[in-house]
Amino acid sequence: MKLPDTYQYKDGRFYCENVGLDQIALEVGTPCYIYSKSSIESSFRLLSEAFVKVDPLVCYAVKANSNQSILMLLKELGSSFDIVSGGEFFRLDRSGVSPDRMIFSGVGKTLDELTLAVERSIFCLVVESVFEVTQLSKICQEKRKLSRISIRFNPDIDAGTHPYISTGLAQHKFGLDMAAVEAGLEIIQDNPFLELVGIGSHIGSQILDVQPYMDAFDKVMQLAEQLRSKGHAIEHVDLGGGFGIPYRDEPAPDFDLLASFLAERCSGYRILMEPGRFIVGKAGVFLTKVLGCKTNHGKSFYVVDGGMNDFIRPALYNAYHNVLPVSECEGTGIADVVGPVCESSDFFAKDRTLPNLPPGELLAVMDTGAYGFVSSSNYNSRPRVAEVLVDDDSFRIIRSRESWDDLIRHEEI
Ligand code: LLP
Repeated sequence: MKLPDTYQYKDGRFYCENVGLDQIALEVGTPCYIYSKSSIESSFRLLSEAFVKVDPLVCYAVKANSNQSILMLLKELGSSFDIVSGGEFFRLDRSGVSPDRMIFSGVGKTLDELTLAVERSIFCLVVESVFEVTQLSKICQEKRKLSRISIRFNPDIDAGTHPYISTGLAQHKFGLDMAAVEAGLEIIQDNPFLELVGIGSHIGSQILDVQPYMDAFDKVMQLAEQLRSKGHAIEHVDLGGGFGIPYRDEPAPDFDLLASFLAERCSGYRILMEPGRFIVGKAGVFLTKVLGCKTNHGKSFYVVDGGMNDFIRPALYNAYHNVLPVSECEGTGIADVVGPVCESSDFFAKDRTLPNLPPGELLAVMDTGAYGFVSSSNYNSRPRVAEVLVDDDSFRIIRSRESWDDLIRHEEI
């Protein structure tokens, strides 16, 4: 599996496709997020081709990057979508995505969200608790509307990823265990408006080894067979999301192995998958500018104009992201790259070997297309940054930079 080299140096300048990042900084300012259209297209296609044997229904996890232009692009590529809130439904609805291309996951849907999903007849509602089945059952009965549902099973499998983004163990809040499945089935069986069409699991995110998927799916498939034998017309099995990307030089997931396993183990079922990061992660960079260099007790820090409010993955998960200068700079040294926010967790890189970076130099924090902008905030009253989409040798702003007025727009005195 090889993802294209979307970001490259050419004659000493750093490019996204055929646009110099310095050019974007000049016109849009910093900090900003930059995404490559062709990278998103190729990772979407790569996934479809890798799993061609099982012809999966790819439901892009909107939470990874929910910019309207990105959603529109994926809609045009033929993607279906995995949503986790009424807000994500609204985004897709505004993009003209039909509800029959949406599945609705999430451990805590409100009554309003459940009602919306029922009224608008989404493709499938993924239930995550017995209380949710009870509430949904009532809504469907009252509205006399049919709801297609699938059960998210908790397989008690360790995905081998960061504990904060691991979701398939017994100790986690996600999914239903066997006892809860039994209880849920009783409610489903009693209600002609609930149609159980799927079963699946989502064991975590940034998973590089496919073995945990296969272990989880052994359990999911056993359950699927049991449900069919009880008379439920199970159409699909849902692998969840979670395919990891190499942030350093880790080997990418072995899709061939997983595809062969699925082809053998799941014949007679439609396969669903909910990838987010894999589709958009490598497509994006966060562009920030060096304000200056300081030393404290012999340790060097490059202070940049982007902060943890703009990109939180290093602060939240101690996540590693490559940081590259946009022009070729001389010299070398070891330094942290830190933001202006008043927290010691406000860093992008620690003890990193970097060239000598003068004030004004631009830095690209790599692989930030997933869980970047979407997890940003206004902390420290910092306006959210602009987002830019590059298409070959042109680019356009797909979300404008917030202003100071935006910061207080919803506040009242
Ligand atoms: N499906 C469900 C039910 C999910 O909860 C998630 C992600 C996905 C699909 C998509 O997973 P992906 O393919 O993107 O790994 N903020 C964290 C990641 C949180 C993932 C939450 N759930 C990070 O920056 O690593």
